[in-house]
Order: sequence, then C-alpha cells, then structure tokens
Amino acid sequence: MRYLDQISVEGKLVFLRVDFNVPLKDGRVADDTRIIAALPSINYLIEKKARIVAASHLGRPKGKIVPELSMKPVAERLSWILSKEVKFPGEVVGPEVEKMKASLKQGEILLLENLRFHPGEKKNDPDFSKELVKGIEVYINDAFGTLHRAHASVCGVPSLIQEKGAGFLVKKELENLSKALFEPSHPYVLITGGAKVSDKLPVLKSLMKHADRILIGGAMAYSFLKAKGFPVGNSLVEEEMLDEAKAIMDEAVRRGIEFLLPVDHRCVREIKEDAEIKVMKEIENGWIGVDIGPETEKLFSEKIKNASMIVWNGPMGIFEIERFSHGTRAIALAVADSNAFSIVGGGDSAAAVKKAGVSDRITHISTGGGASLEFLSGKKLPGIEALEEK
Ligand code: 3PG
Repeated sequence: MRYLDQISVEGKLVFLRVDFNVPLKDGRVADDTRIIAALPSINYLIEKKARIVAASHLGRPKGKIVPELSMKPVAERLSWILSKEVKFPGEVVGPEVEKMKASLKQGEILLLENLRFHPGEKKNDPDFSKELVKGIEVYINDAFGTLHRAHASVCGVPSLIQEKGAGFLVKKELENLSKALFEPSHPYVLITGGAKVSDKLPVLKSLMKHADRILIGGAMAYSFLKAKGFPVGNSLVEEEMLDEAKAIMDEAVRRGIEFLLPVDHRCVREIKEDAEIKVMKEIENGWIGVDIGPETEKLFSEKIKNASMIVWNGPMGIFEIERFSHGTRAIALAVADSNAFSIVGGGDSAAAVKKAGVSDRITHISTGGGASLEFLSGKKLPGIEALEEK
C-alpha cells in the first residue's frame, strides 16, 4: 500500500475520502477533532496544487436526504479552519457536481454532500462508484474511522482507479495501533469498558495474548460479575454472553493474566441526572450500577501506574451524565499520569480524555471507534485491502 507522499498529485483531480462524521449541535460542528486530524493530508494536497474532491458520510441517513445531516456546516467549518473557500455543490453526484469538479483550479477544494444520502454508498453499488470516480485521477483514503466499512467510497471507488493510497492520518493510526498488536511492551494493561461484552469480545481475545493485566469497567463489568455469581441488582447484563464472559476469565487464569473487575460501584435506582447515588460493593436489588466506585478507581489507577503499554477502549460508566463520569475521568487521569505508550480508542473514551483535559498526555487517541476495535481485533479492514497493490 502506498501513502500520499509516494503518489504524484500535482495538478491532479484527487478524490479524498475523509471521515468527517462529526457531532453537530444547533446546525454547527460541535467537535472538529476529526476535521483537524485530516488537515495534514488536506494541506499537503493544497501545497502540491492538487484539485481536491473531498467526501465523507455524516450520521446514518439510510440512503435518503436528511437535511439535518447535510455536510454544509462541515464545509463551513473546514473553510474557517483553512481560511480558504471550500466549495459545496450540495449534492453527492450529478451535473452540478461534475461542473464544479471540472472548474476546480489547482489548490482548490470542494466537499461533496453526505455520501450516505445516496443509497449506493452503503450498498457499494458499482454504478454509484462509477459516478463518484468520473474525472478522478488519484484516490486517497484518509478516513481511518471508516476503513471497516465496505462501502462505495471506501472500496468501490479505489477498485476503479490505478493511482491510489492512504493519507497521513491513516498512516499515523496504523503505525500507532500496530505497536499495540505487534510490538507489545510490558507491563501491558488492557482497559475495556462500555455497555456490551459482545462488542469488546474480539479485542479482548486478540489482545489477551499480550496483556499482563485486564481491567474491566462500564456496564460490561456486570456481565462478568454475574458470570462469577456476584449480585448485580438491576444493572445491565447481557445474559447470552455469560458463558463467553466465563470462558474469557478462565482463559485469563490459564494465561496468568491479572483480570480485574470493579470492587465497588456507584449505583442509582433510576438513570437520571439528579438520581440519588449510593456506593455499593454488592449491588442490591432495585439498584443499577452506573459507574465504578472510589475503591475501584484507586485499585485500577494503581494497576495503571507502572504500565509500559496501555490500550483503553470504552468508558467506566454512563459518563455522558456528569455525575456518573467520575470513574471514567479517574481512569483518564491515571492513563495520562503513567509513562506508558498509551492508546485510547473509540469515540467515548476519546471524548472522556478530552473532557478530562489530558489529551496531550496520551500517546495516541484514535479517531476511529469501530475501525480501531476491528484493527486491534486483528481483522483485515476492507478499506486497507482496497488500497493494496495487486
Ligand atoms: C464512526 O463514527 O465510527 C465512523 O465514522 C463510522 O461510522 P458508522 O459506524 O456510521 O459507519
């Protein structure tokens, strides 16, 4: 696979797949992390006087035009960041797009409308790919967060083009995430949280071969606790995953991994902002665990302290609610305070790190949620395969 700086782009019409799937609030971009992350490739293309056709999806409009998911605010934010006009045709394909593509001058950029407004994107429809590729001379994929989707702009378009490669964000992501997979250093601490065991099972299985310690938080911890026979009250449990959870814990014992579950929990009777919070070691009936407790924070922070490598994916509780975000924040601080090579993957844990104000003390915060999980699970990403030279 080639990278952007190994491909001649001067004066060429370049299709740049980016992941500008950003949160919007009141019609404006609420967090531009993913836009900023694509700037090295965009600026390089501008400097090289390429004619840039940038494209992304935004949300899940299911093949229909959903005005609230228009890329217009994203084009505006990008234009503001670049201090440069970003042309916006307001369509994904069609005569207006072709006209604008044809009139793009060297160093100019346009951003297509949301790719998923077209039903062909998710279906990887060859006719849609043919439309997208019209006039395009070079294809660059810098949408790390979308590499696990076999969609038209990720797989169909590059299959139709000779000159193709990955952008600088994809390069940075692959280099850092590969270290966790192929160059482990010890003590290696894997921290996983979030709601479901099923989402994290592949990554647990994959990174178990390196981990010295595994720390589990978030709602998925209740499935593990239940599998061990601990009372979890009314907490969220994936009943169908209890056997798998047990098998993972048995495997951890077999491999001599320290497998740590929360020893106390912040619990509520009802999930609402002003709920009464009680710290419990064993969750009583009628109560729901919503965050790890203070003793667990201390225990986990201690286990993180001397790590040499840390991979963290998934919050320790319902961190979107400020009062239930204590545990996640404590872990963010502990990871930042360690001297480890630290990787934080997934939108939620990345947001938690940002909220805790410690982003600059984390080695690598992945811009991909699902993509980073799949990569760390050892799976081949379709978006990478599509870029590999035959
Ligand atoms: C993400 O936000 O993880 C990527 O943009 C992929 O989005 P998707 O899960 O809707 O495909």
